[in-house]
Amino acid sequence: MQVHDKVFRPFIDAKTIQARVAELGKQIDKDYEGKRPLFIAILNGSFVFASDLFRHITIDAEISFIKLASYKGTSSTGNVITSIGMEEAVTGRHVVLLEDIIDTGKTLHAFLPEIVHRQPASLKIATFLSKPDALQYEVKADYVGFEVPNKFVLGYGLDYDGLGRNIPELYELAE
Ligand code: XMP
Ligand code: MG
Repeated sequence: MQVHDKVFRPFIDAKTIQARVAELGKQIDKDYEGKRPLFIAILNGSFVFASDLFRHITIDAEISFIKLASYKGTSSTGNVITSIGMEEAVTGRHVVLLEDIIDTGKTLHAFLPEIVHRQPASLKIATFLSKPDALQYEVKADYVGFEVPNKFVLGYGLDYDGLGRNIPELYELAE
Protein backbone atom coordinates (compact mmCIF):
# COMPACT_ATOMS: atom_id res chain seq x y z
CA MET A 1 0.00 0.00 0.00
CA GLN A 2 1.32 3.42 -0.93
CA VAL A 3 0.92 6.40 1.42
CA HIS A 4 2.41 9.64 0.18
CA ASP A 5 5.82 8.60 -1.18
CA LYS A 6 6.30 5.43 0.88
CA VAL A 7 5.28 1.80 0.62
CA PHE A 8 3.83 -0.02 3.62
CA ARG A 9 3.03 -3.68 4.10
CA PRO A 10 0.52 -5.42 6.39
CA PHE A 11 1.87 -6.07 9.88
CA ILE A 12 -0.87 -6.82 12.45
CA ASP A 13 -4.37 -7.65 11.20
CA ALA A 14 -7.54 -6.08 12.53
CA LYS A 15 -8.79 -9.23 14.24
CA THR A 16 -5.57 -9.66 16.20
CA ILE A 17 -5.66 -6.00 17.22
CA GLN A 18 -9.28 -6.20 18.36
CA ALA A 19 -8.61 -9.34 20.39
CA ARG A 20 -5.62 -7.79 22.14
CA VAL A 21 -7.37 -4.50 22.88
CA ALA A 22 -10.30 -6.44 24.33
CA GLU A 23 -7.86 -8.33 26.55
CA LEU A 24 -6.25 -5.09 27.78
CA GLY A 25 -9.65 -3.52 28.36
CA LYS A 26 -10.84 -6.45 30.43
CA GLN A 27 -7.64 -6.43 32.46
CA ILE A 28 -7.98 -2.71 33.21
CA ASP A 29 -11.67 -3.19 33.97
CA LYS A 30 -10.72 -5.71 36.63
CA ASP A 31 -7.78 -3.76 38.04
CA TYR A 32 -9.83 -0.57 38.53
CA GLU A 33 -12.94 -2.07 40.07
CA GLY A 34 -14.43 0.45 42.51
CA LYS A 35 -11.89 3.17 41.58
CA ARG A 36 -13.81 5.13 38.94
CA PRO A 37 -10.70 5.66 36.79
CA LEU A 38 -10.16 8.73 34.66
CA PHE A 39 -8.76 7.81 31.26
CA ILE A 40 -6.83 10.56 29.55
CA ALA A 41 -6.24 9.89 25.88
CA ILE A 42 -3.44 11.74 24.16
CA LEU A 43 -4.54 13.02 20.75
CA ASN A 44 -4.32 12.62 17.88
CA GLY A 45 -2.90 9.14 17.57
CA SER A 46 -4.62 7.39 20.47
CA PHE A 47 -8.21 8.15 19.52
CA VAL A 48 -8.86 4.81 17.82
CA PHE A 49 -7.21 2.76 20.59
CA ALA A 50 -9.01 4.82 23.25
CA SER A 51 -12.37 4.39 21.58
CA ASP A 52 -12.02 0.62 21.25
CA LEU A 53 -10.48 0.10 24.69
CA PHE A 54 -13.03 2.25 26.49
CA ARG A 55 -15.89 0.13 25.19
CA HIS A 56 -14.47 -2.86 27.04
CA ILE A 57 -14.70 -1.00 30.34
CA THR A 58 -17.84 -1.93 32.24
CA ILE A 59 -17.12 -0.27 35.59
CA ASP A 60 -17.84 3.43 36.19
CA ALA A 61 -15.14 5.30 34.31
CA GLU A 62 -14.55 8.68 32.69
CA ILE A 63 -12.55 9.66 29.65
CA SER A 64 -11.05 12.94 28.55
CA PHE A 65 -8.83 13.96 25.65
CA ILE A 66 -5.76 16.15 25.56
CA LYS A 67 -3.24 17.31 23.03
CA LEU A 68 0.41 17.75 23.77
CA ALA A 69 2.26 20.70 22.40
CA SER A 70 5.98 21.05 22.48
CA TYR A 71 7.59 24.44 22.49
CA LYS A 72 11.13 25.60 22.93
CA GLY A 73 11.87 26.43 26.52
CA THR A 74 14.88 28.42 27.54
CA SER A 75 18.12 27.13 26.10
CA SER A 76 18.89 25.26 29.29
CA THR A 77 15.60 23.39 29.52
CA GLY A 78 15.25 22.46 25.85
CA ASN A 79 11.85 21.41 24.59
CA VAL A 80 8.99 21.70 27.02
CA ILE A 81 5.82 19.71 26.60
CA THR A 82 2.53 21.07 27.81
CA SER A 83 -1.02 19.80 27.55
CA ILE A 84 -3.94 21.46 25.85
CA GLY A 85 -7.45 20.74 27.01
CA MET A 86 -6.77 19.21 30.39
CA GLU A 87 -9.76 20.59 32.24
CA GLU A 88 -10.66 17.60 34.36
CA ALA A 89 -9.51 17.71 37.95
CA VAL A 90 -6.85 15.06 38.23
CA THR A 91 -6.09 15.48 41.90
CA GLY A 92 -7.05 12.38 43.85
CA ARG A 93 -8.17 10.52 40.72
CA HIS A 94 -6.95 7.18 39.45
CA VAL A 95 -5.57 8.24 36.08
CA VAL A 96 -4.82 5.98 33.12
CA LEU A 97 -3.01 7.72 30.28
CA LEU A 98 -3.76 6.31 26.83
CA GLU A 99 -1.05 6.58 24.16
CA ASP A 100 -0.80 5.26 20.64
CA ILE A 101 2.90 4.42 20.78
CA ILE A 102 5.90 4.85 23.02
CA ASP A 103 8.86 5.18 20.72
CA THR A 104 11.86 6.94 22.30
CA GLY A 105 9.72 7.78 25.33
CA LYS A 106 10.63 11.44 25.01
CA THR A 107 7.07 12.75 24.78
CA LEU A 108 5.76 10.98 27.88
CA HIS A 109 8.95 11.52 29.83
CA ALA A 110 8.56 15.26 29.32
CA PHE A 111 4.83 15.28 30.00
CA LEU A 112 4.52 12.99 33.04
CA PRO A 113 5.74 15.60 35.56
CA GLU A 114 2.83 17.85 34.57
CA ILE A 115 0.36 15.14 35.61
CA VAL A 116 2.31 14.04 38.68
CA HIS A 117 2.36 17.67 39.81
CA ARG A 118 -1.45 17.55 40.00
CA GLN A 119 -1.26 14.69 42.48
CA PRO A 120 -3.45 11.93 41.07
CA ALA A 121 -4.27 9.08 43.48
CA SER A 122 -2.47 6.81 41.02
CA LEU A 123 -1.06 7.07 37.52
CA LYS A 124 -0.65 4.32 34.96
CA ILE A 125 0.11 4.26 31.26
CA ALA A 126 -1.64 2.14 28.67
CA THR A 127 -0.11 2.22 25.22
CA PHE A 128 -1.28 0.46 22.10
CA LEU A 129 2.32 -0.06 20.93
CA SER A 130 5.79 0.19 22.31
CA LYS A 131 9.14 -0.04 20.56
CA PRO A 132 11.51 -1.35 23.26
CA ASP A 133 14.55 -1.07 20.96
CA ALA A 134 13.91 2.64 20.39
CA LEU A 135 13.42 3.61 24.03
CA GLN A 136 15.81 6.33 25.17
CA TYR A 137 14.00 7.79 28.17
CA GLU A 138 12.87 6.10 31.32
CA VAL A 139 9.18 5.54 30.71
CA LYS A 140 7.48 2.36 31.76
CA ALA A 141 4.06 1.47 30.35
CA ASP A 142 1.83 -0.59 32.63
CA TYR A 143 -0.37 -1.94 29.84
CA VAL A 144 1.09 -2.61 26.38
CA GLY A 145 -0.92 -3.85 23.40
CA PHE A 146 2.01 -4.98 21.28
CA GLU A 147 5.76 -4.61 21.43
CA VAL A 148 6.95 -3.89 17.91
CA PRO A 149 10.36 -3.67 16.25
CA ASN A 150 11.97 -0.32 15.63
CA LYS A 151 10.23 0.35 12.32
CA PHE A 152 7.78 3.05 11.34
CA VAL A 153 4.20 1.84 11.57
CA LEU A 154 0.88 3.26 10.47
CA GLY A 155 -2.84 2.55 10.82
CA TYR A 156 -5.20 2.17 13.78
CA GLY A 157 -4.86 5.85 14.63
CA LEU A 158 -1.20 6.23 13.68
CA ASP A 159 -0.36 8.37 10.69
CA TYR A 160 2.30 9.05 8.17
CA ASP A 161 2.17 12.79 7.62
CA GLY A 162 -1.55 12.94 8.36
CA LEU A 163 -2.66 9.89 6.40
CA GLY A 164 -3.44 6.32 7.41
CA ARG A 165 -5.20 6.83 10.75
CA ASN A 166 -8.43 5.29 9.43
CA ILE A 167 -6.88 1.96 8.45
CA PRO A 168 -8.24 -0.72 10.85
CA GLU A 169 -5.05 -2.77 10.77
CA LEU A 170 -1.41 -1.96 11.38
CA TYR A 171 1.06 -1.54 8.52
CA GLU A 172 4.82 -1.22 8.65
CA LEU A 173 7.19 0.60 6.39
CA ALA A 174 8.58 -1.68 3.71
CA GLU A 175 12.35 -1.33 3.32
P1 XMP B 1 8.30 9.32 21.48
O1 XMP B 1 9.60 9.11 20.74
O2 XMP B 1 8.24 10.67 22.10
O3 XMP B 1 7.24 9.28 20.32
O4 XMP B 1 8.01 8.20 22.44
C1 XMP B 1 5.91 9.32 20.57
C2 XMP B 1 5.14 9.90 19.41
O5 XMP B 1 5.83 9.81 18.15
C3 XMP B 1 4.96 9.37 17.13
N1 XMP B 1 5.48 8.08 16.58
C4 XMP B 1 4.97 7.40 15.55
N2 XMP B 1 3.90 7.65 14.75
N3 XMP B 1 4.35 5.66 13.54
C5 XMP B 1 3.59 6.76 13.76
O6 XMP B 1 2.62 6.95 13.04
C6 XMP B 1 5.43 5.35 14.29
O7 XMP B 1 6.07 4.32 14.05
C7 XMP B 1 5.76 6.27 15.34
N4 XMP B 1 6.74 6.29 16.27
C8 XMP B 1 6.54 7.41 17.01
C9 XMP B 1 3.61 9.19 17.77
O8 XMP B 1 2.83 10.33 17.49
C10 XMP B 1 3.87 9.11 19.25
O9 XMP B 1 2.84 9.64 20.05
MG1 MG C 1 1.93 11.14 14.48
